[in-house]
Amino acid sequence: MTGTKLMEKIVSLAKRRGFVYPGSEIYGGLAGTYDYGPMGVLIKNNIKDLWWRMFVLGRDDVYGLDAAVLMNPMAWEASGHVSGFSDPLVECEKCKRRFRADHLDESGICPECGGALGKPRQFNMMFKTHVGATEDESSITFLRPETAGGIFVNFKNVVDTMHPKMPFGIAQVGKGFRNEIAPRDFIFRLREFEMMEVEYFVKPAEWERSFEEWKEAMHAFAEAIGLPEEHLYELEVAQEDLAHYSRRTVDFEFDFPFGRKELWGLAYRTDFDLLAHAKMSGTELSYLDEEAKERFVPHVIEPSLGVDRTVLAVLASAYREDELGGETRTYLAFSPKVAPVKAMVSPLLKNKPELVAKAREVLAELRKIHPSIAWDDNGNIGKRYRRQDEIGTPFCITVDFDTLGERPELKDTVTLRHRDTGQQERVAVAEAGKRIREALA
Ligand code: GAP
Repeated sequence: MTGTKLMEKIVSLAKRRGFVYPGSEIYGGLAGTYDYGPMGVLIKNNIKDLWWRMFVLGRDDVYGLDAAVLMNPMAWEASGHVSGFSDPLVECEKCKRRFRADHLDESGICPECGGALGKPRQFNMMFKTHVGATEDESSITFLRPETAGGIFVNFKNVVDTMHPKMPFGIAQVGKGFRNEIAPRDFIFRLREFEMMEVEYFVKPAEWERSFEEWKEAMHAFAEAIGLPEEHLYELEVAQEDLAHYSRRTVDFEFDFPFGRKELWGLAYRTDFDLLAHAKMSGTELSYLDEEAKERFVPHVIEPSLGVDRTVLAVLASAYREDELGGETRTYLAFSPKVAPVKAMVSPLLKNKPELVAKAREVLAELRKIHPSIAWDDNGNIGKRYRRQDEIGTPFCITVDFDTLGERPELKDTVTLRHRDTGQQERVAVAEAGKRIREALA
């Protein structure tokens, strides 16, 4: 299944099963915002956690950071975002709606009401706000449009406190805000979204090698979260389309249900940012190579990954429908590492205290392997399985009278059901634990 139909199914499942809700829904929503529900927050955290493990903890050369969203506005002047972070925009003279000029045909006619469109003008995408009690020009600042800014202004702090050897990176996961003129495609283009970024500082002559290494790291991450390589493409961004800070960018595009679109970006930002912040702040932002006795301004390679687009790509790749037991079923074939719930434990009957007690015991045991093991004793067992299929739980474990020893040879065994095939097998509780551990390894 592809296209609009698949997208409708994903949006509907995301709402029905607690992944993603429209933002401020009871007030009619707020365009460009979505809220992550109980399942959504789990999958989002799993993706961020995997990224942190692969891009920060698993390496000796990357340092983590958590900088403030609000920054001194001079930082955004220096970075070029105040003057250059804008889209060409046209306004309809009749209905006053605004559109991105590069998304319209050349007719000069409003696609909504048929009115005449005005001349294109630049529209800065940063959200303005005021800091402090007075609301005048002097108190204006911006919600950050990228997390990179917080990294560049902390370059000196990290160098002075951690004394890193070159090359090294500073990584950050956090919110970014952009007043997109046309937010669209569910969680693809948002006004508030989350990013996972590394600014990797290199000797100028070494940027190309580092660029290639980060490209590989991004492919490895795609594989780790279960994105099919055949739906991932590298697009060399044309010179005229590069962001103002970039000398080279490769977009990682993905086959979303609505077409092939940018998922992540990898940019060579040169020494643009460090030079600009040094000039604006009057603080020297350079690196002293003790061995070579050489001081220089490092160049920067930046892998930048949007969390929300990653969640959408993971959801779209995992969505399946098949026939099971004569019925159509929907399931999400998540990689166990990103699945919100790793396994569900259930007593066959909920009105048998001895079954419930044993199942609780099994649950406690399995939670030692991973805390995200769910309990479900609602409705019949078939319904429970279907609910777990729809949230992509890889294993369901059912405790029955044989687990209690009704047939002594089956004592302390459970039914282990596999999500993708619906097949069930009888295994010891310890074996069920082993399977979960192996799936998460
Ligand atoms: N610091 C580099 C930077 O901000 P970008 O290509 O503008 O580069 C990086 O954004 C990533 O952030 C994108 O590849 C995408 O994954 C995500 N992203 C950008 N704008 C977004 C939006 N409006 N909604 C959701 N994700 C967005």
